[in-house]
Amino acid sequence: MTDLTGKPTTTDSGAPVESDEHSLTVGAGGPVLLQDSYLIEQMAQFNRERIPERQPHAKGSGAFGHFEVTADVSAYTKAALFQPGTRTELVTRFSTVAGERGSPDTWRDPRGFAVKFYTTEGNYDMVGNNTPVFFVKDPMKFQHFIRSQKRRADNNLRDHDMQWDFWTLSPESAHQVTWLMGDRGIPRTWRHMNGYTSHTYMWINAQGERFWVKYHFKTDQGIEFFTQHEADQMAAADTDYHTRDLFEHIRDGEFPSWTLYVQVMPYDEAATYRFNPFDLTKVWPHGDYPLIEVGRMTLDRNPTDNHAQIEQAAFQPNNFVPGIGPSPDRMLLGRLFSYADAHRYRIGSNYQQLPVNAPKSEVHTYTKDGAMAYRYTTDPVYAPNSKGGPAADSERHAPPSWTADGEITRAAYVSHPEDDDWGQPGTMVREVLDDAARDRLVDNVVGHLLNGVSEPVLQRAFEYWSNIDKSIGERIKEGVRAKADEKDPKAAEQGNPARSSMQDKA
Ligand code: NDP
Ligand code: HEM
Repeated sequence: MTDLTGKPTTTDSGAPVESDEHSLTVGAGGPVLLQDSYLIEQMAQFNRERIPERQPHAKGSGAFGHFEVTADVSAYTKAALFQPGTRTELVTRFSTVAGERGSPDTWRDPRGFAVKFYTTEGNYDMVGNNTPVFFVKDPMKFQHFIRSQKRRADNNLRDHDMQWDFWTLSPESAHQVTWLMGDRGIPRTWRHMNGYTSHTYMWINAQGERFWVKYHFKTDQGIEFFTQHEADQMAAADTDYHTRDLFEHIRDGEFPSWTLYVQVMPYDEAATYRFNPFDLTKVWPHGDYPLIEVGRMTLDRNPTDNHAQIEQAAFQPNNFVPGIGPSPDRMLLGRLFSYADAHRYRIGSNYQQLPVNAPKSEVHTYTKDGAMAYRYTTDPVYAPNSKGGPAADSERHAPPSWTADGEITRAAYVSHPEDDDWGQPGTMVREVLDDAARDRLVDNVVGHLLNGVSEPVLQRAFEYWSNIDKSIGERIKEGVRAKADEKDPKAAEQGNPARSSMQDKA
């Protein structure tokens, strides 16, 4: 906190004010005067304090820090921020997806993991989640997916029936839903979760060789989670638990850190890999592409003005720097448009001039004017020109590219040999989770399904889980059946609708 003891309060135009407490009135009991500009400034500014919250990821907070390269990945990328020994300042924001700005931090949901690196070559943003996959693989379905997770039109309530309706009609969601319903669906704190960019990106080295990469930020604090019961209790006791935890640890000098690794696939292997490497619902098994260390991210500075530095922070996956580019992942390509568009609406057209969003490197742009322009524009205001304006260096900078060909179409992804929706979540359930984690997964799904999911969605949910793993599917069906009977013993005797519809269709 800045100590301003002894300094006078001023208006926003800098003039001293006469009172922090009393409005200007005609006599002590008389009317308030319109000429009290300070009172009016306080009221009018107050009415404009909120900007629209982010559509998804509205609840969150963040901190500042730095990234230090600890290994040598220059064989794969020429990006300045990843060269050996480089240290880069950054800002992060962690968030939940579906809840509004005041919603509990401990609701079951993926967590956003957004990082803006202020590199010497411009800002590089990695806007990922704490999960390596996603629910859908085509940007056409993203808006529908988010609506299904938010609120109904009629009663303005969240609705598990709507969520399972969408998921079970979208089998590509199975991997992410399995992950979400497991332990990692409620991290204990933001410090105790990993971050993944999830998408595949392109890296280009100094020789112009191209690679496909996936990023993994592994927490140095270790993975910890809340059970559903613990999370429910925490949601009631401290809605802002994760926000508080991060702030207080940084305030007390316990700086959280993450080690960044990448998986690297040579450019030509993408075409024949057993999974489509651009499909956001799939991981690359570590056995195929092992993790390669890059460096460490440490958070060591809290915001002093959450609104200015975090709420107005604008992360956008289209912020690339030389040596890094997108991939044919359709979701990523859709996101390259969506975020900057959201910022222009939510913050304003000159959002990139705000201190938290402005690059630390020099900006030489022909973009000009607009509301709240802060950076000065100089002549010439057009290109090409012969008046001393900046000119693009096309010799040094070529766009990241890949070969694309074919008729314009609306079609599913090109299928690779092992690209089914159920395989990887099945592997997770059978080979990654232990017995206790599998039990918690079953309990979490049963609890979720019993919370308002009705036929025919319920039956589809049983089939969905049986497709992932037969035995888990059976256990979930049996669990829902038993709990439904427990809740309503009378209906059970007469044939509980949940039970009978399950039996009919079994
Ligand atoms: P590995 O045994 O090498 O990796 C399994 C990974 O699963 C671990 O490294 C860990 O990822 C992650 N994991 C551990 N516990 C959980 C949990 N409760 N919920 C979610 N993830 C967990 O096997 P593969 O690479 O062959 O992958 C097997 C399956 O593991 C995949 O089908 C996928 O479902 C899942 N997985 C794979 C990841 C990958 O990038 N290959 C990443 C995460 C999950 P981490 O080390 O990142 O913490
Ligand atoms: C936030 C769109 C997929 C991670 C947002 C926002 C939009 C959006 C509009 C709000 C931005 C703002 O107002 O600041 C989309 C679209 C997607 C998509 C259109 C798919 C086509 C994803 C995926 C991930 C992701 C796959 C993770 C891998 C995030 C994060 C935020 C966010 C972390 C919050 C960033 C912050 O903290 O400010 N998304 N999203 N999104 N999205 Fe996405």
